[in-house]
Amino acid sequence: MQQMNEISVKDKKFSVSISEKEIENSVKNLANRINEDYKGKEITFLGILNGSFMFASDLMKNIKNECKISFIKVSSYEGTSTTGTVKQLLGLNEDLEGKDVIIIEDIVDTGLTMKNILEILKPKKPKSVKIATLIFKPESFKEDFKVDYIGFSIPNDFIVGYGLDYDGLGRNLKEIYTLVK
Ligand code: IMP
Ligand code: MG
Repeated sequence: MQQMNEISVKDKKFSVSISEKEIENSVKNLANRINEDYKGKEITFLGILNGSFMFASDLMKNIKNECKISFIKVSSYEGTSTTGTVKQLLGLNEDLEGKDVIIIEDIVDTGLTMKNILEILKPKKPKSVKIATLIFKPESFKEDFKVDYIGFSIPNDFIVGYGLDYDGLGRNLKEIYTLVK
């Protein structure tokens, strides 16, 4: 019999690991920290599609500053493992010169995607760039940039839900689920 907190996505089983309430609290805490850190400043959010759409939406609803949002779409994953290269599928046309930018990402895993996004931003001459990620996998992280705002640090397991997908599926889930091995 299937347990209540276990679900199937495509051909794999996942069990709930972060509840809707825990996500909500964490997102509110991150927004409060950003509100404190950016007092009186206009913020330009840059959401990384597709995975960050839900986090970006909930985070932005709790921001008190004047703020804008724009999106960039990149892809590095196929199935449950990284391909090592990042493809820019939807470019960045926004003028970021002199702007205080906060990148919004669903998850920083090896850090390769974020490293590439930081490279894309550099020639746009933003005044500042910080990173907000809902999930961070410290054991898997290979880069040396600072991740400024982290919702949850998790072990090196594959997760879905709240915007995160397994082969495009599972993004609609309100909770975050971990792959059952
Ligand atoms: P990185 O380049 O290795 O840091 O990978 C970052 C990207 O891989 C994220 O933006 C996600 O789209 C995807 N990713 C990494 N780990 C997971 C996971 O556990 N579940 C779903 N997607 C993931
Ligand atoms: Mg992503």
